[in-house]
Formats: sequence, C-alpha cells, structure tokens
Amino acid sequence: MTKLSVNINKIATLRNARGGNRPNVVQAAKDCERFGAQGITVHPRPDERHIRYQDVHDLKEVVTTEFNIEGNPTPEFLKLVKEVKPHQVTLVPDAPDAITSNAGWDTIRFKEYLTDVIADLRESGIRTSIFVDPVEEMIEGAALVKTDRVELYTESYATGYHSNRETAIAPYVKAALLAKQLGLGLNAGHDLDLDNLRYLKDNLAGLDEVSIGHALVCDALYLGLENTIQQYLHQLK
Ligand code: PXP
Repeated sequence: MTKLSVNINKIATLRNARGGNRPNVVQAAKDCERFGAQGITVHPRPDERHIRYQDVHDLKEVVTTEFNIEGNPTPEFLKLVKEVKPHQVTLVPDAPDAITSNAGWDTIRFKEYLTDVIADLRESGIRTSIFVDPVEEMIEGAALVKTDRVELYTESYATGYHSNRETAIAPYVKAALLAKQLGLGLNAGHDLDLDNLRYLKDNLAGLDEVSIGHALVCDALYLGLENTIQQYLHQLK
C-alpha cells in the first residue's frame, strides 16, 4: 500500500495572505484525515512564509495519522522536530529563499553531515527520509548515511511525463529497485498530480508513501477537498 500524505503548506499560504485564521490549518489537517489521507506533511521554512513553527506544535496535538515534517536541518529546525517528535522527518537541502525544494541531497559530499543529523534524529526516536534525485550513486550514498528512507524528487518525472512517460520514469524505476535492495524505505514527491500519479505508483515497486501539496490543493478549488483526496487515493489503489 502507498500512503497519501497531504502537504498542507498551501493552506497556510492562503491563510497568511490575509492574516487571521482562514482557512484554519489545523482544521484542514483534521479534514484531510477525515477524508482519507493517511498522513499530513508540513514544510516549515525559516521565514515562516507558509507553515509557522507554532502551526507545527498545534498540528502535533491533532494529527492522528502519520505526521511528516520536511526541511533543511538547521539548528532551529532540529530543535523544532525534536520537541514535536513527528513520525518522520524528511531532510531537504533547500536554500532559505528557495520558492520550493529544487534539488536532492548530494549524499556523497554531505556524507558526514547527514550521518550525524540522522543519528541525532534516530536517538530522538524519529524516522528519517532524505530527499534525493533518482541517481543510483545518490541512493547508495543514502544507504551509507543510514537513513531509514529516501524520498525521490519527482520533478523531472512530472516534467517529462506528457512528452515521454517511459523515458521519464526510467531513472526512477532503477533508483527504486536499488533503494529496496539496499533495505531503504521509499517515498516520492514533488509535482505529482492526478495525471502522473498512477503511472508512478504502477512502476515503482514498494512505494511506501507520496507527499502531495500544490496540485492537490489546486484541484480542491474545483473538486472540493473530500472529492480530491478520494481521487488521489483512487490513483494509488
Ligand atoms: N516533497 C518535498 C521535499 C517538498 O519540498 C515538497 C514541496 O513542499 C513536496 C514533496 C510536495 O510537492 P508539491 O507541492 O509539488 O506536491
């Protein structure tokens, strides 16, 4: 089974556009779960332009499915996640001013750094996943730093999907097989949508989880949140 974790950052972006508390991020997380999502993902950034650190604390009180916190492991981020203790932390090498995550880790270059951070999080009882491009060398490096899982960065799959989906998926199939051979759990995310999700799911053996935000929230504007989540779940069946 592949779990759907809904990234609710865009809900917070909408709230922050006006001040006040509409839409209510905590209620949205509860509703996503009620509508069938098997996880909630947030990506607090240092400038708190969407999810705020306080949201993360508030969400911890209500999320009953899997709580996944993504981010660059700055000292502030590590302090936050060790206080909150989510089920999973996904480490992402994004610059503070990046609009969205735009690259996976270089697991060779950052081997020592990642090893230390991952060991630290494991000591706090938190499962780790690291965001990586579908490159075999990077997957091998991920196993060496002893992460529990990798999250394959699916931007290039999503971009190539409509012109040639066989070519677009090929590096992901290899990366997924290798990750499983090395005993790593397998997540995927970024730019996944109702068009490209099923083909990804059908081609990646042992896909544990996808985290989806932008397209899902956009679809919800037209289809409603409940119906949208049901449709994403249907693609993962
Ligand atoms: N995975 C990671 C590491 C991300 O940074 C994001 C975006 O915050 C996602 C998944 C979800 O991407 P999208 O919003 O395109 O669905």
